[in-house]
Amino acid sequence: MRVLGIETSCDETAAAVVEAGVGGNLPWRIHSSVVASQVEIHREWGGVVPEIASRQHVRDICGVVERALADAAASWSSIDAIAVTQGPGLIGSLLVGVSFAKSAAWAAGKPLVAVNHLAGHIESLWLEHGDLPTPAIVLVVSGGHTSLYVVPASGTYRLVGRTRDDAAGEAYDKVAKLLGLGYPGGPVIDRLAGDADPDAVSLPSTRLTHPDRNAPSREYRFDFSFSGLKTAVLRHVRHRQQALGVTMLPEVEVRDLAAAFQSTVVDTLVDRAFAAAKWHNAVAVGIAGGVAANSRLRAAAAERGRRAEMPVFFPSTHLSTDNAAMIAAAGIRKLAAGQLAPADLNAAASLPL
Ligand code: KG4
Ligand code: ZN
Repeated sequence: MRVLGIETSCDETAAAVVEAGVGGNLPWRIHSSVVASQVEIHREWGGVVPEIASRQHVRDICGVVERALADAAASWSSIDAIAVTQGPGLIGSLLVGVSFAKSAAWAAGKPLVAVNHLAGHIESLWLEHGDLPTPAIVLVVSGGHTSLYVVPASGTYRLVGRTRDDAAGEAYDKVAKLLGLGYPGGPVIDRLAGDADPDAVSLPSTRLTHPDRNAPSREYRFDFSFSGLKTAVLRHVRHRQQALGVTMLPEVEVRDLAAAFQSTVVDTLVDRAFAAAKWHNAVAVGIAGGVAANSRLRAAAAERGRRAEMPVFFPSTHLSTDNAAMIAAAGIRKLAAGQLAPADLNAAASLPL
């Protein structure tokens, strides 16, 4: 079973060919995975500009798909289905992938599968490691999402926690911007925080003690909130700028602040993921999404896993950030279950999972 995956939910145009055993069985094999990143284009603006992103997807999509097929030595006739990200994401960006996939599926006479981007991030763990022990807790932590899922058995997902405001990656990007470190913020803060002192500045971490007003019946025990932390960093920066009479803080202060911010985010993510694992009797913890590339998060989660005698799984860096191999993997699950998309499939910016 060979599936062509297509991903255009944000600022990466991606296509990949992934093969599964008969009936969608593991292990899955990545034959090709092509990612055209728009980071250099959006950097000038300090973040993703949706209108520019969708226009760039239009420019890149044909070449990226052709390259993914060529790298896999595959032709349109040799693939069994096309899987595409339906949502959540930027609507203009999603529409490019969905329109392309619908047209290609119709022209090549292949089934179409609609994939939730977050299911893709979760499945990146199964793509990388084969079958994870279940029930598992999976934390999807990226620029757009910070959500905790229980995976009772491979291929089924139940949301048990999510951010009420900013995603963790979004907090990285906003804090990097206010420290003048450029976009995207995650990798640069990760690097700067490396040998700095995370205890030099004290920052608050948030634990939510009340239901979400917009979804009062939802379980809220494992919800996140990062906007207060971002504001605390902003206030600290303003205070130090005034105290020193400068606009640019000394490098050592920027490093220490980056380290304090990073350690607060990482401690919150790890604490809540392991608390959820305990509460839901999980036997494994998985962490996926762009922020899963973070070195401190990887080290802290591995250490906590050792102490709790709980295996911890991360995707490789290439499968952590947005890619189409994970979309093809999630597509294989749905294809095996016979869940095909209609020819009039539409993109959905806030598709729930
Ligand atoms: O999964 P992803 O590629 O796109 C979304 O679905 O959002 O995640 C991108 C996010 C950005 O916010 C970026 O700053 C963050 O992942 N990121 C990191 C690191 N590498 C990327 N955050 C922390 N540490 C990193 N090393
Ligand atoms: Zn993503």
